[in-house]
This record gives sequence, C-alpha cells and structure tokens, in this order.
Amino acid sequence: MTAIAILPDLLIDQIKAGEVVERPAAVVKELVENSLDAGAQSIVIDVVEGGLNRIRVTDDGCGIPAEALVGALARHATSKIRVLADLESVASLGFRGEALPSILSVSRLRVTSRPQQAAHAHQVHGEGRLADDMVGEPAAHPVGTTIDVRDLFFNTPARRKFMRSAAAEFRAIVQVVHKLALWRPAMRIELLHNGRCTLKLPPQSQAARIAALLGDAFLTESVAVDEARLGLHLQGWVGLPAAARARADCQHVHVNGRPVRDRVMASAIRRAYADVMHSQHHPAFVLSLALDPAAVDVNVHPQKTEVRFRRSAEVHDFIFGVIHHQLRAVRPEPDRHHQIRPDDPAPQWQVPLALGPLPPRAGAASFVPQYAVGGGPPLAFQVEDRADGEACPDPAAAPPSPWRAAAAQVEAAAPLGQAIAQLHGIFILAENTDGLVVVDAHAAHERVLYERLKQQLASGQAASQRLLVPEPVALDEVAVETLMAQREALASVGFELDQTGPDSLWVRAVPALLQRTPVAGLLKRWAGSGDAGDDELHRIDDGAQSAQQRVLAEVACKAAIKANRRLTLPEMNALLRDIEGTELSGQCNHGRRTWVQIPRGTLDHWFLRGR
Ligand SMILES: Nc1ncnc2c1ncn2[C@@H]1O[C@H](COP(=O)(O)OP(=O)(O)OP(=O)(O)O)[C@@H](O)[C@H]1O
Ligand SMILES: [Mg+2]
Repeated sequence: MTAIAILPDLLIDQIKAGEVVERPAAVVKELVENSLDAGAQSIVIDVVEGGLNRIRVTDDGCGIPAEALVGALARHATSKIRVLADLESVASLGFRGEALPSILSVSRLRVTSRPQQAAHAHQVHGEGRLADDMVGEPAAHPVGTTIDVRDLFFNTPARRKFMRSAAAEFRAIVQVVHKLALWRPAMRIELLHNGRCTLKLPPQSQAARIAALLGDAFLTESVAVDEARLGLHLQGWVGLPAAARARADCQHVHVNGRPVRDRVMASAIRRAYADVMHSQHHPAFVLSLALDPAAVDVNVHPQKTEVRFRRSAEVHDFIFGVIHHQLRAVRPEPDRHHQIRPDDPAPQWQVPLALGPLPPRAGAASFVPQYAVGGGPPLAFQVEDRADGEACPDPAAAPPSPWRAAAAQVEAAAPLGQAIAQLHGIFILAENTDGLVVVDAHAAHERVLYERLKQQLASGQAASQRLLVPEPVALDEVAVETLMAQREALASVGFELDQTGPDSLWVRAVPALLQRTPVAGLLKRWAGSGDAGDDELHRIDDGAQSAQQRVLAEVACKAAIKANRRLTLPEMNALLRDIEGTELSGQCNHGRRTWVQIPRGTLDHWFLRGR
C-alpha cells in the first residue's frame, strides 16, 4: 500500500473545486452571489464560449480593500462569518470562503477591485494559484469589483472533457442568472454572450421582473400568494392547474433569497396540487420563503443549493396550507379576469378565473340536480335552440324579453349566465353579461361531484347503496390482496367488498353515485391489474394523493355526465349554478379547464360589428 501523505494545497483546492465549480454556470453562480453579498446595484456578466473561454463579472458593490485581495483568494477566507454562531444564522449567500480559491485553482483568474473610500483600484491574478510574492497592483476600475475567469479547467483536462457544447453551457448559465435575478427586481443585470447582449434587466417591480424572465403568460395564468404566519412569509405566484406544463421547467423556489431545491417545499407544493392536477403534469410556480435565518441550515450542500429547515413539518404545513387555500379560492368571476381579447390574432383560449368568494346563492344548499342517466341515442351534433326562439335578434336593439329580464335578475348571482344550448353533446353554451361561456359538461360535473363527495366524507356520511345481488369480480391474487388492504379507504367512500376466494371478491355495496355503473373495471384499475380501459388521463398514480382521494376522484369521474348525453336547459342551468358554488371549479380533478369565457367584445371583433 502507498504511504499516506498530506496532499499539496493546489491539489486540495482542485479536489474542492470539483464540488464547487463543476461547470461554468457554477462559476457564474458563485461570482454573482459574491456581487449580491457585496450590495451591488448593477451586475454585468460577460461570457465567451459558454464560459469555457471566459467569464467576467463586474459589479458596483462594496469592493475588496487592497490589503484583503490576496486573502480573498485564500482557502477559508471570508468576510461573512467569524464564529460558529454566525454560521447558524447566516444571511449572506456565501459563507464558506471557498468559491474564489476553488475557481482560481482551475483557471486563470484576475480580481480587480476598488472600495468606495480607495483612491484607485488594485488587482491580483494567478494561474491555478497566486504567486507567493503576489501583492495587489494598482489598476484602473470604478468603485466595485471585476472578477475575470479565463480558460476554465485549463489545468484539469479530465474535467474539461465533461463539458458540453458552448451553447449548452451557456443555457445553464442563463438559468443560473434567471434564478438569481428573479427575486432581486431592483438589481440591474446584464448578460452578454460572445459580445452580444442576451439579457438586460433594468430595476423594475417584482411582477415586471417575473414577467420579463418567465413571460407575461405566466402571471396571467397564475394567482398571487402572499401570506405570513408563525414567522414564515411565503410570497410569489402559483400557476393555475389548467396552465400545467408537460415538464417541470418553471418551478422556482427561493429561501431567504437563495435559489434552492428543497424536498420539504416540493412535497408541500405537490400535495397542494394533487387534488387538481394529473400527476404527470407539472405546475408552474415562483415562490419565495422568508424566515429567521436561524431556523434554516444553509450549510448542507457544497454548492449551497439545498437547505434544511429546523422545523420542517411546520414549513411543510404552512406552504401546503397557503397554496391549497389559494387554489381553492379560484372561482368563476368572468368580469374580473383576462379573457380572449378582441385583437388576439387567433382566438387564444384562456381560463377566465379570478380570486374571491362568490355571493351566496339562494337555495343553493337544498338543490339536488337530477342529470339524466342513459338518455336518448348518441347525437353527433346537437344544438338546442334558445327557449324564447328569437330569430337572429340584434341583442342591443331588441326590447327586453321576459326571458332576458329574468336572466338579468339572476345575472349578478350567476357569473356563468344562462344556458342556451348544448353543442356536440359535450359543451354547454351559456350567455352572461360578458358574452359567451363554453362549459365542458363532463369535466365540470366531475369537479362538482368530487367536491361534494369530499364534503360528504368529511362529515362522515358518504352515501352508499347496497346491491340487491352482489357483483362478483374475478381478479388475480395480488389484486385481491391490494384491494383488501385498501378496504377501509374503500368502505369510507361507500364500497363494501367481501373476499370470496384467493382471486375473487364480491361487491356488496357501492357509492350511491355509482349504483347504476359497473364497478369491476374501477376495482381492477385500483388494484393495478386489468386494463385501465378509460382515458389515460384518469389513471391517477401520485403517491401524494391519498387512497381515499384517488377513489373519490374516480368515482366522480365515473358518475359524471358523459359525452353525447342530451341535457335539458334546466339541467344545464343547474350544473352552471353548481359550478359557481363549487371550490376549484375552474378545472376538473385532472387539471383540465372546465369552462372558458368568450367576451362580447371578441365576438363583435370577429364579426366586425360596430366598425
Ligand atoms: N464581488 C465582490 N465584492 C466584494 N467582495 C468580494 C467579492 N467577491 C468576493 N469578495 C470577498 O472575497 C471573499 C471570498 O469570497 P468567496 O466567494 O471565496 O467566499 P464567500 O463568499 O465568503 O463564501 P462562499 O465560498 O460560500 O462563496 C468574500 O468573503 C468577500 O469578502
Ligand atoms: Mg462567495
């Protein structure tokens, strides 16, 4: 065995650098964080060839005194903490005193800096390390600091081989800059690549900064969050479920100004969406959590991208509660929200949802809608005429009909208006003061039933219906075992199952909503056997969703009115009123939208009326 030896400093730094600066984006992160810690108002990041050739970050921060320049590049040299107690409540982004020496050990580095009170700037430079006799040399530089990193990994060819194309490395840099810029709207930030300016952010409002980085659509398709409790303050925007994305590419979480990946927060957010979003979709969100620095340990990851909360359960419950509450508060209120605009080049279907409680509806609690089951033959295309049979009237010129007067009376309490027709056996068309509302009857009914089932369950009275003749279901042994293990959850929503053999069981009772629906397929799916048959979207597999919720969601989906079922106007209106009174009614249980508003102005525009 080789004798044990202490490694030389340069090698130690290079090993350390492997953790801290694994790619150019990590260098940019460390340098920009230093500028932020230095209180800079303006930062320019100038990158050549994805940062592999050069990364230069200039700020107007507090600067580094000449006598401290050499020290700043020494390992474990930091101005940010002094004693262990400081580490326990660190408020700056940096605290390890490792970034600059790590970067120096794998590059050609030059630091030029001038503090406010200094007559001029000083600089130091080195390749892999500083020369032993290096002292700060006078240089020209305004107040602030420039750190210039050239030829990254020039002395560690093995690492250099792992670098991707310059374009890919630059994309990673852009992401890092975006993340750091998100919650610092007052900071002027400029990013250049190969001499070309690719991002220029002026000091702006928080919302303008978010829109600049994530696009205007993000804000219009999300709801704002701002709540403080128990020393925790959560701010930001959470995307509406209907604006879910196929990839988790718009999820930003900051803790005390530090962009992080955090499991506790991620799980709380996932749970908050579990009810309204299919598990294969990803919500968009930008959230910032502020809390006492002493309540969070930031020293758990070499790149400082993770944190550990001292009271993680509290943080989890707080975040879940805030987001869950905000998502549930989203209700139809057409006149207060963005809709399809007349000058949109093509109709852009947006979900017109708004925050805020609806006025209570008279008789809402006692009304039980009776949606036709079975019904007539499937219709390929079906439009029911309006009840008053007006022939192509000009609404502006027409005298108020009794129908219209009655409609106007309920308008205030009925944001979704009055049903006028059913289209393709799927959509309900309704007229409200704003224009036309189009409702996906199945999706909306599913949400209404789901919320009702949940309420029933919460009050301990899930309606169950005993079958006159028990329904036998043949499964495999594993499936029977799985179902019997979930027996209690199933019983709580109205299923009564009896095992009759290793691979068979009887269904003795079903949820009242399903009394006329075959349930064998559902049970097979829950047991993970058999063919799911139905719409792929309805396979719910998110671990965060409780077994009960999953079952309820599927019961609601099964029991909801199906396509091609002919609805009468009173049935349609009953459903509209139910949607208005239901939490989370803007989307079905899988996050699909349930209705859209086409404003009158848009219709006028399409038909060039009033021009
Ligand atoms: N842009 C800058 N403006 C002013 N001072 C700076 C700047 N960059 C670095 N410094 C000084 O150099 C020191 C060393 O920086 P370095 O990034 O290596 O360590 P750190 O920020 O203290 O901790 P960490 O390794 O966690 O980033 C800092 O503590 C700070 O005093
Ligand atoms: Mg630092």
